[in-house]
Amino acid sequence: MIVKGASGGVGSLVVQLANQVGATVIGVASARNQLLVEKLGVDRFVAYDQADISTALAATADIVVNVAMNGAGGDQDVAMVKPGGRIISVSHRSPRLPAGMTFQHTYPGDDTDSAALPQLVQEAAAGQLTVPIDHVFPFTLAGFVAAHEALDSQHTGRIVVAKELPTL
Ligand SMILES: NC(=O)c1ccc[n+]([C@@H]2O[C@H](COP(=O)([O-])OP(=O)(O)OC[C@H]3O[C@@H](n4cnc5c(N)ncnc54)[C@H](OP(=O)(O)O)[C@@H]3O)[C@@H](O)[C@H]2O)c1
Repeated sequence: MIVKGASGGVGSLVVQLANQVGATVIGVASARNQLLVEKLGVDRFVAYDQADISTALAATADIVVNVAMNGAGGDQDVAMVKPGGRIISVSHRSPRLPAGMTFQHTYPGDDTDSAALPQLVQEAAAGQLTVPIDHVFPFTLAGFVAAHEALDSQHTGRIVVAKELPTL
């Protein structure tokens, strides 16, 4: 399985959940986040800002999970999937697919979230899932301003605003 956006909030969880079910996982993110993604447990890392991933990973995966921002690069996903494979994407727009390849748009919803969230919280509390955190800001006006500035600049992991500093 290729996880495109493996360093992100969604992608870092997808990598870990894929590991739990025994998938071979290739993580795609920017080079500066290689260490973070490798620590999550990928079998291979490819930097999208250093290689043309549609060439480097041509016809490599049974499944491509595209959780890059807005599901960017649908045509890359098609190139990376093996014939007859599947693309799962946060984009609602399917790329042009060859015969036999399938596309699924994934999005938050009451039915899926009500089943998934308790399990994710339970696994996180038990230390079975890690959420990489870049910085925790206080729950104040200044904290929110600083958090937005941090979001707009390069960061590695989540930006959190918390009333009490969590022990994570
Ligand atoms: N967070 C949520 O709860 C949630 C829920 C449902 C849907 N979504 C959707 O899921 C998507 C990702 O959300 P997120 O919160 O995980 O975002 P995020 O934390 O900003 O992560 C975005 C990921 O995309 C990667 N990326 C950016 N440009 C790329 C490109 N051109 N090619 C390949 N990878 C690229 C980033 O890599 P680098 O940072 O290493 O460059 C990063 O791994 C968004 O479209 C969002 O709307 C999010």
